[in-house]
Formats: sequence, structure tokens, C-alpha cells
Amino acid sequence: MKTKLFSPLAIRDVTIKNRIGLSPMLTYAAEHGFMSDWHFAHYAKFALGGAGLIMIESTKADPRGCTTPRDPGLWKDDFIPAIAKIAQFAKSQGATVGIQLGHSGRKARNSVPWEGRLPLGPEQKGVDHGEEWELIAPSAIAAGVKSQVPHELSVTEIHELIETFGQAVLRAEKAGLDIVEVHGAHGYLVHQFCSEHANQRTDAYGGSFNNRMRFALELIEHVRFLWPQGKPLFYRISAVDEQGWSIEDSVKLCRELKLKGVDMIDCSSGGMSEGSVMASASRPGFGYQVPYAQQIRAEAGIMTQAVGLIIHADQAEKILRQGQADMVAIGREMLNNPHWAFDAANKLGDESAFKTIPANYSYWLEKRAGSGFGKNTSTWAAGISQT
Ligand SMILES: Cc1cc2nc3c(=O)[nH]c(=O)nc-3n(C[C@H](O)[C@H](O)[C@H](O)COP(=O)(O)O)c2cc1C
Repeated sequence: MKTKLFSPLAIRDVTIKNRIGLSPMLTYAAEHGFMSDWHFAHYAKFALGGAGLIMIESTKADPRGCTTPRDPGLWKDDFIPAIAKIAQFAKSQGATVGIQLGHSGRKARNSVPWEGRLPLGPEQKGVDHGEEWELIAPSAIAAGVKSQVPHELSVTEIHELIETFGQAVLRAEKAGLDIVEVHGAHGYLVHQFCSEHANQRTDAYGGSFNNRMRFALELIEHVRFLWPQGKPLFYRISAVDEQGWSIEDSVKLCRELKLKGVDMIDCSSGGMSEGSVMASASRPGFGYQVPYAQQIRAEAGIMTQAVGLIIHADQAEKILRQGQADMVAIGREMLNNPHWAFDAANKLGDESAFKTIPANYSYWLEKRAGSGFGKNTSTWAAGISQT
């Protein structure tokens, strides 16, 4: 059987071998912005496990934009070799490799999640080399009661920031990456500009809907100009948030993003209120954000990636078959099972299942399955009488 999940997806000059993406997930393991062997091992696992697209975690174009002191960066050339090593290896395994470029704006400068994700005090020095760590945002409005009030960017500083993103894009190209994703979601800087709640400017970057979209659109225009025409550009959106941003707003923004050369909308939600997106999600259901991917796809006429509690193979296959999205991104379930793609191919009975992973593994596993053992993978199968 040929499944939709394991059919390739061509975008510009890049063909992703299947519709499964590793969702961008910060691992809070960088040191002074540098990725390390830890990141190499982490991303290599997913490439070996058969994911079509490896999206490297939110990597900051500007040290001021780090959510925590352990975020990775792309604000200087020294960061390129470690990223290039990841890209080269993942590509050698047939994966497509992207990087999410982000800036946390007023939500920067917190402790890592397992230390409480709390705003760090003024004594906390910058990630790069102990510089002053200034929070910046569209308006001088703090993210939460304990957060520092950010510096309101001047128009000149906005233009400089767009240029800073541009430099990070050029470094992503030097690192050999296939896709850039701009992080426009989760209450971070780009989302802050779009939001009436966080953006109360009275100049060309605030006020009307068109003015609030201006930063996102100028940023995308610059990124698209510098990023090779043959390479895809993704945008992660919070399709709705808790502070008035609606799905209709997202559809309007996505139509404009498409005109500026964005190829794929990665449809998430939330993050404009205090606290982490993951912490605030109060037990949502399976595929809770899929309807957003479906509506944006239908009404903005752009490819979408669905994400959020997509856990089961048949669930992912159904999303694609029903035309709700063009790809699925798997986050935490991929942390649970880095071989999710291989597992899903087996569960769906895809004819290419054993080609999902390298021969170094599949040679043995296929032989074992042929002799009647271990076809129904995992520790969850009941009883030793079952294969
Ligand atoms: C540890 C962790 C780190 C995350 N980091 C990012 C990130 O860097 N960028 C981003 O857009 N979303 C981030 N997210 C959100 C995920 O990409 C994903 O959208 C979310 O976990 C829902 O998908 P899931 O249910 O498959 O995990 C993170 C989530 C987790 C659990």
C-alpha cells in the first residue's frame, strides 16, 4: 500500500521524502549560543528514524532575542560549523533540514523550563559574551507582571533588526540548510508586532491591521530576497491567540505572506498571554490545531503544516487524506520515539516501510519481521504470543 504520509512533497527545488516533519523544539542545551555534539546526536536520531524534515529549534538572529541563556544562535559566523555538521549528516540520510529563526522580543531572558521559566533579574548578563541584555519589543509593555518592561524599538532599530535577520539567513545558507522557517508565533517578537495587545505603536508599524502586519511582511520580504529562490520558506503562525488575534486575521496575513513568497504555513496557536505555550495548553485534544491548518489552507490557498498532539500514524494519514494539511509536524511524540516515521510506516503497512530507515538497521529488522517476529513494534504489544 502507498500512503499519503510517505509520499514525497516537492516545494520549489526541494523534495521532502515524506510528509513527516520534526517540529521545532528548543532543547535548551546551547552554550553562549553554540550548538554542540549534544545537538548533533539529538538531530541525527530523527534523521536516522526516517523523518522527512528535520526543523532545527528556534535559533536566534540576535542574542537579545534568546528565550533563555541556553538558546542557540545564528548571529555570528562562528556558529555555522556545528549547524553545518548537523545538516550534512541529516542530508546524507535523505532528510531535508530546516532551521527556525526566531526572536523572543519581550518574552526573552527567562530561566530554562525545568528551572521555572522565570524572568531573570538585571544581574543576568547576555548570552553572547556577557554583554548587557536588553529586552526589545514593538511597545514598552511587559510580557507579564514579573517581566522587565522592554525597550520600544525605534523605526531605525526595526530596520536594523530586519537586517540582522538577513545576516542570519545568509549564515543558514552557508550552513547548507534547505529551509528557513520564520517564527511568527507563540507571542514572540513577530507575533508581538501583529498583536493589538502587545503593539500599541502609533507610527507605521502599529495601529491598523495593515500597519501591524508591516514588520512581518517586511521581514519576510527581506528573508525571501536573501534566501535562494529554489529553497522553501516556512512561517510558523499562532493561528489564534488568547488576546484577540483570530483565525480570520491569520487568513488575511497568510494571503499576504504567500504573495511575499512564503511556501508553507506551520499552524500553531497561543502564546500571547503570560507563561509558556505548552504550560498554558489545558489538556487540548488530539490534533487540536488541525482545524486552523485546514482553514488557512482552504482560504489563503497556501500549503500548511498541522501540528499539536498528532501522535498516531492513522491520525496523521487521515489529516493528509482529508486535505486538512500538506504535512504534519510531530513534536513531543518524536522525543518519545525518534523512529516514529519507521514505526508509522509499519503500522500503516506502507510498502516502503523498511526503506524508511538505513539498511544498517532495516536489513536485520526486515529479516526478523519476515520470520514472523517483531513486526508489531514496541513494548506496548501485549503478550509474547503476539508478533
Ligand atoms: C520542549 C519543547 C520545545 C519547543 N520549542 C519550540 C520552538 O523552538 N519553536 C516553536 O515554534 N515551537 C516550539 N515548541 C512547540 C512544538 O514545536 C509543538 O508545536 C508543540 O510541542 C505541539 O506539538 P506536539 O503535541 O507534537 O508536541 C516546543 C515544544 C516543546 C515541548
